[in-house]
Amino acid sequence: MKKKIIAANFKMNKTNEDIRKYFAVFLDLINGLKDKISAGDSDLDSELIFAPPFTSLCETLNIIEPYLDFIKLSSQNVYFEKSGAHTGEVSIDMIKSCGCDYAIIGHSERRNIFRESDELIGKKIGAVYNDGRIIPILCVGENLEIRKRNGQEKFVENQLAVGLNSVKGKSVSSLIVAYEPVWAIGTGMPIKADDGEAMHGFIYDYIKSGFSIGELRVIYGGSVTEANIEELMGKPHIDGVLVGGASLDPQSFYNIFKKGGRL
Ligand code: 13P
Repeated sequence: MKKKIIAANFKMNKTNEDIRKYFAVFLDLINGLKDKISAGDSDLDSELIFAPPFTSLCETLNIIEPYLDFIKLSSQNVYFEKSGAHTGEVSIDMIKSCGCDYAIIGHSERRNIFRESDELIGKKIGAVYNDGRIIPILCVGENLEIRKRNGQEKFVENQLAVGLNSVKGKSVSSLIVAYEPVWAIGTGMPIKADDGEAMHGFIYDYIKSGFSIGELRVIYGGSVTEANIEELMGKPHIDGVLVGGASLDPQSFYNIFKKGGRL
């Protein structure tokens, strides 16, 4: 069965000390669940993913080690080259060696603040997907101006086309796409669940036209909280969420997981 995803993107927040404090609270909240899962006695149909900054990946891995059955690690970025003179960049081998199973690629903050182009993002997706050890989470989404003129489908279609251009073969079965409209990120203005469902359906249809989709998942990000998680997760094409601000507090993220993760 394809699992739903509840993912936390910490962005540029939390030192290693903050991480230790966070997980002391979070793991305490989740402890009963761990026993249920180990006993095969839970109807958990979700994967819990944390994307801390690079500097805390290994620290987080050490802390969540007993929980790796259902808590996974993601990086917030990765470079497409294997090694060499690329100061400040981090390779697939490096994130793998800190326990990552996922990598967020093409987040709108990378695109807008650091000027990452569709082409660069396409190279990263191709390198990671073709390597096969890490599942890429390809982020797409339009800004407010595009949404106001109803251009979101064309815009996202282009991001997907270039983003998937270097994927070898015709299957994207293990890919995750995160639809994160820029106007909804960090604004407290989440998308209406019906509008989200429409965009997710569009993304499914577009990818289906060029690839066999297998277990492709399309998740939503942008002002997700415990107040809107259930409505969003109730939609058939919304396979999970990528949470920024509301993931930074362990109790608030646990509440999101509990409501959205069908425990
Ligand atoms: P917020 O949940 O803070 O809106 O951020 C969403 C996001 O960018 C997740 O990657």
